[in-house]
Amino acid sequence: MTPAPRLPDFTKLSVAVLGDPIADHWLFAQPTRLSREAPVMVLRHEREELGAGGAANVARNLRALGAQVSVFGLVGRDAHGRELSILLEKEGIDVAGLATVPGWTTPTKTRVLAAEARRSPHQVLRIDREPREAAPVAERDRVHAAVREALEDFDALVISDYGYGIVSPETALLAEAFRRANRVAVLDPRANVELFRGALTALTPNIGELARFTHVDVSKLDDVTELRKAARSLVERLEPQWLLVTRGNLGMALFGPGDADGIAVEASGDGEVTDVTGAGDTAAAVFALALAARCDPAQAMVLANAAAGVVVMENGAAVCSPNELASALAEAPVAVRLARTERRA
Ligand SMILES: Nc1ncnc2c1ncn2[C@@H]1O[C@H](COP(=O)(O)OP(=O)(O)OP(=O)(O)O)[C@@H](O)[C@H]1O
Ligand SMILES: [Mg+2]
Repeated sequence: MTPAPRLPDFTKLSVAVLGDPIADHWLFAQPTRLSREAPVMVLRHEREELGAGGAANVARNLRALGAQVSVFGLVGRDAHGRELSILLEKEGIDVAGLATVPGWTTPTKTRVLAAEARRSPHQVLRIDREPREAAPVAERDRVHAAVREALEDFDALVISDYGYGIVSPETALLAEAFRRANRVAVLDPRANVELFRGALTALTPNIGELARFTHVDVSKLDDVTELRKAARSLVERLEPQWLLVTRGNLGMALFGPGDADGIAVEASGDGEVTDVTGAGDTAAAVFALALAARCDPAQAMVLANAAAGVVVMENGAAVCSPNELASALAEAPVAVRLARTERRA
């Protein structure tokens, strides 16, 4: 068991986020009556909000903890792409590496939230807008070249793959360059993990991704022995320095060279979960930042877990401030040997 970590100073660290930015578009409306046209509810539009999802959420989470952040990726030449870029820039994130692609669609998730007076809103519908074509190779390569050019300026690279096409063999070469330069390269994966063999400081799949990458039924991975087996096989195959598995309400488990049996931390917080959207982004961001601050990896996991426990208490993809993280840490679970953990209700 390791004692609770202190909060490092993140303000001197500079992080590059390379990935797929997503626009979280929220539509708030009030239910009025049943439609006569179809068996559906008629809602009255009240307001709209745009939030940062995917790689953009990773960037916001890093920035909220005080780091210097540059985001690299592609957006469409459309309203959501523009708004996303403005939103990030307003928070002090460098968006020069965000390329605008004409004719491409900014990946957008529109969630319709219905709320009656004095009730909390609930989601009634989600509409996804996705690019019809893969990201154009020339743009993708330019984005990678920009990260490579500025490599010396960054302490860490966080790759946030949401499957919209920024990740390519060049991404793995970049990660490798970071790792070789004794900097931090973390991948929050979706697919394409084989590209990253030997290139990563850390890989941060959730339990479903770990199941997919190791061809194991996800329901088996609640069992610690199965989890350990799957984690070891993935570590052997991809050779990251560290494998951080996020386990939803079971917390996290970490596997690495000295810890093939795994160490774990229970989920943090009082169990009052509002919205788990983006918790994985927070986890990857904070784990990478803590490694860049040269925290012990077990402590980095405890920090990431405490921060994720903060954001799940808020609506939408949220961020955690240094103050919130410091107070969460005071009560946060510490790292222990991976053993049977109880699933929370
Ligand atoms: N219900 C919960 N209660 C407490 N903590 C939670 C809960 N769900 C998630 N977390 C915290 O958030 C971390 C990441 O969550 P999870 O494993 O669901 O990631 P994910 O599936 O990648 O999320 P994302 O939706 O961002 O992709 C967990 O390891 C845990 O620390
Ligand atoms: Mg995730």
